[in-house]
Amino acid sequence: MTRRPLAAGNWKMNGTTDSLEQLRALISTIGTPACEVMLCLPATLIAPAAAIAQGTAVAIGGQTCHPAASGAHTGDISAGMLADAGATAVIVGHSERRADHAETDAAVRAQAEAAWAAGLTAIICVGETEAQRDAGEALAVVTTQLTGSIPPGATAANTVVAYEPVWAIGTGRTPSIEDIDEMHLGIRTALAARFPADAALMRLLYGGSMKPTNAAQIMAVVDVDGGLVGGASLKAADFAQIVAAAS
Ligand code: PGA
Repeated sequence: MTRRPLAAGNWKMNGTTDSLEQLRALISTIGTPACEVMLCLPATLIAPAAAIAQGTAVAIGGQTCHPAASGAHTGDISAGMLADAGATAVIVGHSERRADHAETDAAVRAQAEAAWAAGLTAIICVGETEAQRDAGEALAVVTTQLTGSIPPGATAANTVVAYEPVWAIGTGRTPSIEDIDEMHLGIRTALAARFPADAALMRLLYGGSMKPTNAAQIMAVVDVDGGLVGGASLKAADFAQIVAAAS
């Protein structure tokens, strides 16, 4: 059994309906790649994007969801709403959500459970800050996040883990290949202790300044099964090269 690589783009708070041209261009450029391809879009673009992407190689995802199915939560969006709009996955626990909205591991875990209940794959993000890495705490921090953020019941089908060192996001800096290798092996080992039947098949993405120029080298790391790509996913030409590197 093998893990099918996943190239997932994260547009963050970027994009209006004009930007759907990039989705159309991506679809026509990549054809039928050997990897899975996904764009996690602002909520406003999910329904039109899903309509465009239907029957193509590109899946559509959301960027966060509320743990509740519905209710008095002004401005929030539920996992069921994302699924209804055409999403098949949702990012939870991105470091920008953890920082901007004070999301805790417990909150992320509840979001992942909500995602599963709506039939979505949860892309659960973890990653250390620069100070934590400098202090030699990176693996310990990430292991604690994994324990707190991944609910019991995670399987290779319903969960993808994204390792995104906070200091590498949007900075143009990346860890060394050796550091990525060590961290992904550490994550796989931690997952194997908790999910012995599924850990070997669970996809582990790397995220943080992945670009066409470094994607192939990063994806060649044994326990890297694809990427979660921010800035370089906004332009179809760039993201198509990352898709090719993942394939
Ligand atoms: P970046 O963002 O590729 O722009 O560094 C990655 C992410 O935050 O998912």
